[in-house]
This record gives sequence, C-alpha cells and structure tokens, in this order.
Amino acid sequence: MTNKPTVYVTREIPAPGLEQLKESYDVEVWSEKRPPSKEQIIDRLSELEADGLVCLLTDDIDATVMDASSNLEVISTYSVGYDHVDLAAATERDIAVGHTPGVLTETTADFTWSLLATCARRTVEGYEYVRDDKWETWQPELLTGPDIHGATLGIVGLGNIGNAVAKRAAGFDMTVLYSDVQQREEAEQQLAESGVDITHVDQEKVFRQSDFVSVHVPLFEATRGLVGEEELRSMKESAILINTSRGPVVETASLIKALDQDWIERAGLDVTDPEPLPADHELLEYAPEKLVVTPHLASASIETRQKMAEMAAENAIAGLQSNPLPNSAIEDDH
Ligand code: GLV
Repeated sequence: MTNKPTVYVTREIPAPGLEQLKESYDVEVWSEKRPPSKEQIIDRLSELEADGLVCLLTDDIDATVMDASSNLEVISTYSVGYDHVDLAAATERDIAVGHTPGVLTETTADFTWSLLATCARRTVEGYEYVRDDKWETWQPELLTGPDIHGATLGIVGLGNIGNAVAKRAAGFDMTVLYSDVQQREEAEQQLAESGVDITHVDQEKVFRQSDFVSVHVPLFEATRGLVGEEELRSMKESAILINTSRGPVVETASLIKALDQDWIERAGLDVTDPEPLPADHELLEYAPEKLVVTPHLASASIETRQKMAEMAAENAIAGLQSNPLPNSAIEDDH
C-alpha cells in the first residue's frame, strides 16, 4: 500500500464503483462470496488503518467495527437500507455514513410486481409441474389463481418504493389502500393524477380488506415484527402477502402459523428472518403453493446494481474528501 488513503470494501461490487475508488485510493476488497465475519472486518480495518469502509447490507457495522481504525472517516453501504449500520455510533464518532437511495426504487418495484404476479398466478408451481412431467393436457382448472387486475392492493408504507409499486397498479385497474405513519397527500395526489385509485386508511384496514398486501417499510425498532399474528389473522383467507422490504418486518413464527392454519392463501418473500435461510429452515418446507422465496433480489437489475456501486463509491469519495455525502444515511434518518 502507498500513503494514499485506504478503503476497505467488504465484497466485490460492480466494476464502475471499484474502478472509481481505485483511481484515487488504495483499495482492498474481500474477494470471497460469503461475507467476512465482523472479526475479519475489524481485523482488516485495523491492519489497514483504513480511512473508508464500503460495506454491504449483510455486514453488521457497529461501534466495535468503527473503533477498529482511528482513521475511519466514512462508511458507505452498497444498499438503500442502513439498518445494519449503527448510525448513532457513527454520529458520535463523526463518521459519515452513505447509502444508495433512489436508484433502486423502480427496480425494486418491478421485482415486487414480479413476485406478486408469480404468487398470484402460480408460475413456480407451473414450472415444477412441467419439469416433473405432469403436463399431460390442457386442463380447465389447472393451477388457477386469483386475478390481479381489478383486485385490491394494500401497501404498508408509501415511501419511494411503496409509491413506485402503487404507480404500477394503475395498469392493473386495482384499488390501492395504503397505510403509513403519516398521510402522504402530495404522493396520493400525484398517483391519483396518473390514474391510481388510491386511499389512505388505517393499517388494520389494509390487512383486512386487501387481496394482496405488500410491505414497504424500512427496518427499525417500530417496524420489527410489524406483520405479526394479529395482522396475519385479520387478512382475507384468499390474500397473498408480499415482502420485499426487510425480513424481520414479518414475524417468521407468525407467518408459519398463518401458512399452517390457512389464515392466508400464500406468501412471497424476497427477504427473510433469518437471512439467508438455512437449507433446513421450516420456511423451506412449504411447497410454492404456500410460499415462494427468492434470495433478496429486488434491486438486482444489471443497471441498478452498477449504479449502486457508483453511488457507493461517490459517497465514500465525498467522505474521504471531507465533503458532504451525496446520499447521507444520517441526513436521511432525520
Ligand atoms: C436492498 O435491500 C437494499 O437495501 O439496498
């Protein structure tokens, strides 16, 4: 290493971001597929006396990590969510924290719809049926599912991603009910102008009246377990739950009860608690008729994952130059 500032990157991120960093800094990248342990991150930060850290949502970045290098000026997460970074500890230490909002909004909304449609119209089951050589003929009631068009979509959290999901509901002539900590009148009006039939209601009503409930809240103490036994019991028996936010927003034990006791028809999860799911986890015992799980893919379009890398690099560079971050998680959190 030279005497340039040093940046530790906890995983190979797409080239545009890494290249940007390498132009001005000494960059060390953890090159394995599985994440480094917290101890390994601490060890590398300390050894390198790193000035910057680019991390992923799978890394637990707490005070002990931050204290590993007294030079640490910036933490830049390659994610919009920053529940894995202790913002209070970073603020106390005057360490800037960046994240990647905006760029993944539409991509995540696209994926949410794809999971919703997959669950409603039983795409995974259909594929398994063909692959298992069961496709003997066309059948009138083979793998039927509910219509998406004309149904009621419940959105919990009308932030950027919830809003982008709602926007797409116009094409399906759906009625949208949403709940949020506050009524979002401006967003509602814009959505209504673009043809979305949207109404703000209590969260309880979202769960009770929707055919599809899609969750779009960030994870923090107030949203941990937001979808629990009470919410799941109140849903229509024919309803489908979609979660592309954070795993712990839906209580796993309650979801298992809901699926076992048919409180709801089906669920589609792109995020789980725990994450990743171990191969012997109870959730993986369900057939796709009850549950479809994908491995946290919602922002995984080629373009978006590249742009996220650029944004993560830009945040890190700004922090290392003692400039305000283009996308500060600390500002966003206030
Ligand atoms: C993905 O879940 C992210 O937070 O970027």
